[in-house]
Amino acid sequence: MDSKTNILTDKLAKAYLGGGTHRITQQHAKHKLTARERIDYLLDSGSFEEIGILVTHRSTDFGMEKELYFGDGVVTGYGNIKGRLVYIFAQDFTVFGGSLSETHAEKICKIMDLALKVGAPLIGLNDSGGARIQEGVKSLGGYADIFHRNVKASGIIPQISAIMGPCAGGAVYSPAITDFTLMVEHSSYMFVTGPNVVKTVTNEAVSSEALGGAHTHATKSGVAHITAINDVECLDQIINLLSYLPQNNTKTTTKLSYNLQDEIREELTAIVPDNANKPYDMRRIIYGIIDLDSFFEIHKEYAENIIVGFARLGGKSIGIVANQPLCLAGVLDVNSSKKAARFVRFCDSFNIPILVLVDVPGFLPGTDQEWNGIISNGAKLLYALSEATVPRITVITRKAYGGAYDVMNSKHIGADMNFAWPTAEIAVMGAKGASEIIFKKEIKNADNPIAKLAEKEFEYASAFANPYRAAQRGFIDEIILPKDTRRKLIKAFCMLEDKSVELPKRKHGNIPL
Ligand code: HXC
Repeated sequence: MDSKTNILTDKLAKAYLGGGTHRITQQHAKHKLTARERIDYLLDSGSFEEIGILVTHRSTDFGMEKELYFGDGVVTGYGNIKGRLVYIFAQDFTVFGGSLSETHAEKICKIMDLALKVGAPLIGLNDSGGARIQEGVKSLGGYADIFHRNVKASGIIPQISAIMGPCAGGAVYSPAITDFTLMVEHSSYMFVTGPNVVKTVTNEAVSSEALGGAHTHATKSGVAHITAINDVECLDQIINLLSYLPQNNTKTTTKLSYNLQDEIREELTAIVPDNANKPYDMRRIIYGIIDLDSFFEIHKEYAENIIVGFARLGGKSIGIVANQPLCLAGVLDVNSSKKAARFVRFCDSFNIPILVLVDVPGFLPGTDQEWNGIISNGAKLLYALSEATVPRITVITRKAYGGAYDVMNSKHIGADMNFAWPTAEIAVMGAKGASEIIFKKEIKNADNPIAKLAEKEFEYASAFANPYRAAQRGFIDEIILPKDTRRKLIKAFCMLEDKSVELPKRKHGNIPL
């Protein structure tokens, strides 16, 4: 028995060393943790159970039969994060550069299948040189098996991808399909074709970092939802993110206890400036409404004219979509519409109620926007909100103009409760633009056209730049004082908690992608 036990102990010891101490040292020298260290940090202490530790590849080409490492470049299994079950895979760069072989892919697929059957989140820690070059099409098939499962699991279990090293070629499409992609600054990159191919094809000289580093994807492409300064911060962000999400699409998030005493928030009163053209930071309003320190922003540096993120309100997880007057006056454009639509669809898939804060002057005009499809992209947000069946509440803090009024969770597209502050302006367009059109002749024929325009502007603004007409028609349910907003929202979301909507059977809708 002893000798048999020793065989196992010996094999496990080899497996724990991955590609060996030298390669572990190299990994550390790049300021990266190993796959096992990452799992140890991420999961509750002692909770990890590994699956497939003794798997090896089956390749015999290029002398590969002599190069066998237990685990085959990926550590897979399950464990807990703050007591909640999760499934995890972590690619081990110390073994063949974490490259994906047929067996490596099979290991990942096995835990994906379990995650889907059991209904628990899937976390992938990516650090890989891509397809195992020695295996050819078997590796490509392995990727496709993963992509297919990513799609099948979409909207059923939360899927989180952390990019903690290279992720190139077709490999990028698994993270791209998952719900959230985190990237570590300066040690991770993602691109479909690397700098060398780019140079050959387009003659552009670009570094890996500039082409597909964390900053690039967080600011330019929007591929990265969250960035971190190092591995540890990235793993902390995963833990934090998960705390806002349910286990699967049949569950809701757990309610945390909260302080009942702080429902009146006087600080909300003075945020919106008297001058409607002056910007202010919508984040101050968010902080004024939600439970203390509970905002977890997604896509913070991308399309900054809209803010999206999770928060807790009365201890319960909600998703927030908010125009940001500090950036481009909070207009809706191509990128902000896509960003918000994707977030809304995530919340709706996972039973997370949505709060929409509105201060929007309209859609961004211009050839750039029209040629890049503001029509179909703006429609994404309209579609996503219209189809969402989770509790949906709107607060108009200031401007709600034109089509953007409709899009930003108006009553007409199915919002459950629509509040406005006394500072709200709900109209087809701003008073100046409106007066210039409808009083064009009168202004032109006036002795003093400038004074006439000002007079007409005042007239229009008095009639329309307020929330009262909308309230008269019931498009706004209540005009509330800013300081009461938190209390009103807690009560309204509580009232909507058992909301249930039956939709007619269909395969799926046809969102304008
Ligand atoms: C097999 C690989 C590998 C791969 C790296 N290694 N990538 N082995 N298949 N794809 C091995 C190396 O040979 C090396 O082994 C070890 O991993 C570490 O790699 P290094 O090059 O020493 O590390 P580093 O300098 O940090 O460079 C990392 C790297 C580079 C940038 C990722 O290794 C690289 O460019 N690899 C190839 C990337 C690539 O072209 N992949 C295919 C992409 S196409 P030793 O034994 O020397 O330590 C693709 C298609 C997917 O993935 C399609 C899906 C549909």
